[in-house]
Amino acid sequence: MVNQKGAAIRDNQGNSWLYSDIVKDHFFNPRNILFAGEEEDYDADAMGRVGSPACGDEMVLWLKIDKDSERIKECKWQTFGCGSAIASTSMLSVMLSENGGMTLDDALKIKPQDIMERLGGLPNRKIHCSVLGDKALQSSINEWFRKTDQLDRIITDGAKVIDEKLKITDHDIEEAVLEGAQTLEDVQKKLKVGAASPESIPEIEQLIRFYSEKYYGEAFI
Ligand code: FES
Repeated sequence: MVNQKGAAIRDNQGNSWLYSDIVKDHFFNPRNILFAGEEEDYDADAMGRVGSPACGDEMVLWLKIDKDSERIKECKWQTFGCGSAIASTSMLSVMLSENGGMTLDDALKIKPQDIMERLGGLPNRKIHCSVLGDKALQSSINEWFRKTDQLDRIITDGAKVIDEKLKITDHDIEEAVLEGAQTLEDVQKKLKVGAASPESIPEIEQLIRFYSEKYYGEAFI
């Protein structure tokens, strides 16, 4: 539905699809983007590449890092993701490199919620787009830790198997929530999780609540 005054668009569940002016600015004028072909000459210290299981999009993020201070001197990126992925990664790159550059420890503390606050919000269904840059950042910092022989600082995924029969992990449930699943039924439609292992259902519900609160600020079950 289009509201003539605010051009607010709502889906059939009443969720707003309105984009803030900051999101639009970063979409039309992305900061720190590396255009196709430029990456060959870009002498980065670390690189991270992730694909979004939500929609098959890809994000690549490069960092230049000051070895002594561990501050991020530059952050460049490329994506095949949507406008929200472009805007949120553009903002992430600004946050990482402003004020003399963030330290790696502080960079690892950035959450999708922090990027969204700086953007003035994103539609709920677009929150997973901001996770793409966040994951590419973690992957590039891990590469830096590997290169500089700081193996004890590498952040591992630590996926936990929740449904033994189908080998479904907590990360699969996280991705389902990021793709819009809000209830046990929604998650089961996507993953069939718990169907053959009913004993795992309480833990699945707990994870749905946890990830809903983490990404949407509230649980729906
Ligand atoms: S990155 Fe896939 S919809 Fe935004």
